[in-house]
Amino acid sequence: MEIGILGFGTVGKGVYELLSRNNASMSSVLGEELRIKKILVKDLNKHRQEEAYPFITDNPEEILEDRDIKLVVEVMGGIDPTYNYVERAIEKGKNVVTANKDMISAKGSELYFKARENGVEIAFEASVGGGIPIIKPMIDYISNDIVYEISGILNGTSNYIMSRMEDGMDYNSALKEAREKGYAESDPTNDVEGFDARRKLTILSSLAYKRKINVEDIPARGITDIDINDFKLAGLLGYSIKPLAMSCIRGDSIYSMVAPALVEKNNFLNNVRGVINGIRIKGESLGELMFTGAGAGKLPTATAVVGDIMDIIKGRKVKFSRFEECAIRPYSEIDMRFYVRIKTQNGGQAMEDISVIFDDVKMACLPESDDIAFITDKLTEEKLRLYLNNMRFMDSVCNIDKYLPVLEDR
Ligand SMILES: NC(=O)c1ccc[n+]([C@@H]2O[C@H](COP(=O)([O-])OP(=O)(O)OC[C@H]3O[C@@H](n4cnc5c(N)ncnc54)[C@H](OP(=O)(O)O)[C@@H]3O)[C@@H](O)[C@H]2O)c1
Repeated sequence: MEIGILGFGTVGKGVYELLSRNNASMSSVLGEELRIKKILVKDLNKHRQEEAYPFITDNPEEILEDRDIKLVVEVMGGIDPTYNYVERAIEKGKNVVTANKDMISAKGSELYFKARENGVEIAFEASVGGGIPIIKPMIDYISNDIVYEISGILNGTSNYIMSRMEDGMDYNSALKEAREKGYAESDPTNDVEGFDARRKLTILSSLAYKRKINVEDIPARGITDIDINDFKLAGLLGYSIKPLAMSCIRGDSIYSMVAPALVEKNNFLNNVRGVINGIRIKGESLGELMFTGAGAGKLPTATAVVGDIMDIIKGRKVKFSRFEECAIRPYSEIDMRFYVRIKTQNGGQAMEDISVIFDDVKMACLPESDDIAFITDKLTEEKLRLYLNNMRFMDSVCNIDKYLPVLEDR
């Protein structure tokens, strides 16, 4: 089988390495040899010194118009011009393996049906959770159950930053360290503002609930306003804070959000630290399933890509019917507990006042600051906002700093 690769960056190089290194064993399993024929890049000069240079081109037609290339690996990222290349590859009867969450979360359904029309496959395991095999189990195994909840840490960069903040580092130093280790890009917006996690949650939720979801409908909140005192206060209350992606289905409505949220110390996601990702799926019959592993990185991600290549060559066919469109409702419409942090100059009085408003309230304060945090009763965000508005008039409360959702097992 002749393969064309679109993109030769982190993941592309990993795919090249695995296909070169493990070719003999893969060929013996598949009964045919995998041969890379061409690799597309943007800037030839960057690649002149590389071993793979003889395969490299900056002309997409050399892959798209080559009849011998039967499978295209798309690891160049973005939507434009990538979508067009992938669409054309499919129309030319080529199978596609992609790691591109931007494209799959926005256009996955169109590409899947285009592939069906043209009698080819499109596989996208690496688009969620990097090296964690989550898409294939979701399609092949979990889809026979009724999944009702997904919660996960889907972005390694923000998880790394938050883990270091839990160790006592401030946000900017943790971001700088993440950059130095190659875990954060020079512009980290997509990661720290929750947009990357939102794309992955869109893909997972669509597959889990069998609905077409618009990525922009999922509210995303970043991690940039969390500080060390939040971690200290959450710790005193028995929680850690994680960059979470959550969705659940209740009746015909899907509720979803990406936000930093408190997680109980005994929750599986509490131990998902650093750049590691973790995903928990709850299904009516299967109960709980947990997945954890490297959410990004050259070789873990390449492993997922190569797994897809092998599946396609072995003849795996994926069949979906058309998913119905489904509007997302904000998670905040569901009753949940919240962490609230306030500033006070009279801690004792503030605690008394708070316990008049909320029945079942847990509180913590930091001796060295005038911050108090508490965990509310279960209520909707709208109701919480109403209570917090009333609290602003209390003499004991100087300022309401922030509130965050709490992930609880229900
Ligand atoms: N990095 C990870 O750990 C990871 C994990 C999971 C999924 N992914 C996904 O995998 C994909 C690739 O990520 P990456 O980190 O490998 O990206 P990357 O390191 O930035 O590499 C991108 C490659 O694509 C080429 N490219 C970009 N635009 C192009 C264009 N218009 N025409 C031709 N070539 C073009 C670049 O060429 P030049 O080399 O000439 O610049 C480069 O070789 C993305 O969709 C990403 O979301 C990445």
